[in-house]
Amino acid sequence: MLEINNLSVEFKDVTAVKNVSLSVARGEILGILGESGSGKSTIAHSILRLIYPPGKIVAGEIIFNGQDLMKLSEDEMIKIRGAKISMIFQDPFSSLNPVFTVGEQIAEVIRLPQGLNRREAYDKAVQMLELVKIKDPAARIKDYPHQFSGGMRQRVMIAMALACEPELLLADEPTTALDAAIQDEILNLLRELKDKFNLSIIYITHNFSIIKSLCSRVVVLNKGKLVEEGGVEDILQNPQEPYTQNLINCVKILNNYCPT
Ligand SMILES: Nc1ncnc2c1ncn2[C@@H]1O[C@H](COP(=O)(O)OP(=O)(O)OP(=O)(O)O)[C@@H](O)[C@H]1O
Ligand SMILES: [Mg+2]
Repeated sequence: MLEINNLSVEFKDVTAVKNVSLSVARGEILGILGESGSGKSTIAHSILRLIYPPGKIVAGEIIFNGQDLMKLSEDEMIKIRGAKISMIFQDPFSSLNPVFTVGEQIAEVIRLPQGLNRREAYDKAVQMLELVKIKDPAARIKDYPHQFSGGMRQRVMIAMALACEPELLLADEPTTALDAAIQDEILNLLRELKDKFNLSIIYITHNFSIIKSLCSRVVVLNKGKLVEEGGVEDILQNPQEPYTQNLINCVKILNNYCPT
C-alpha cells in the first residue's frame, strides 16, 4: 500500500535521507531502526510532505495506494493527512493543547473531515477513548491533558490519530518517554488495533527489543542510508552489516544484565 522509491532529503548541506526505498503492505507493521540523527523522523515527515525549508525532498517517489504523493497539490495532500495517513509523535505533551479538553481536541480533528456536527463528533470522541481503553471515557473526555498520566496521554494521541480511520499510521518513537510496563501496554494496544482495522503501521524506534516484539520486517538506517532490511528474525539471527550486529549485541548485553 506504501512504496517509497529512492527518497533523498536534504537540510541545506546535510543529507538527512539518502536514496532510501522501502515498502509496507496492508496490515503490516514495518520497523524503522536507527540511532539518533539517522533520518527516521525525516522519512515519516516526508511521507506526509511535512518537510519545510531549509529542508527539501530532492528526489524520490512516495506511492500510496498507487498514487505518487509527491505529485499531489497541497489541497489534495490535506485530504490525505490525518484521514488516510496519520502520525503519532514522540512527545504527547507538545502535541496536545493544554488549554482545551481532550474531548474538544479529538472532536475537532474528526468534525470537518467526517462531516459531523458538534454533538456527533463529541460522541465519536468518547468512542475513540473507549477504543484505546481509557476507563470511564464519558467522564474523562471533559478532562484536560495535564489530568492524564503519560501513558494515557499517549493513548489519547493514538485515539486522535485513528479518529479519521486512516489506513497507515506513522508512529515516531511513541513510547520512549514511558516506563517499561506502560510501554508494553501501548505496544499491545497498537497490535490489537492493527488486527481490528487491518491497519498498516510504520514504527520508528532506536530500540531493537521493541522492533522484535512488534514488527515482522525492519529496515535499518545509518546516517540517512538504508543499510539493511528483512524479516526481524532473519536479521536477528544473521545481521549482515557490522552496524546492525552492534545494535543487536547491545540489546543482548542489556538483556543479560536485566532479563525480561
Ligand atoms: N528541521 C531541520 N533542520 C535542519 N536539519 C534537520 C531538521 N530535521 C532534521 N535535520 C537533520 O536531518 C538528520 C536526520 O534527522 P532526523 O530527525 O530524521 O533523525 P532521527 O533518526 O529521527 O533522530 P532521533 O532518533 O534523534 O529522533 C539530522 O542530521 C538532523 O540534524
Ligand atoms: Mg526522530
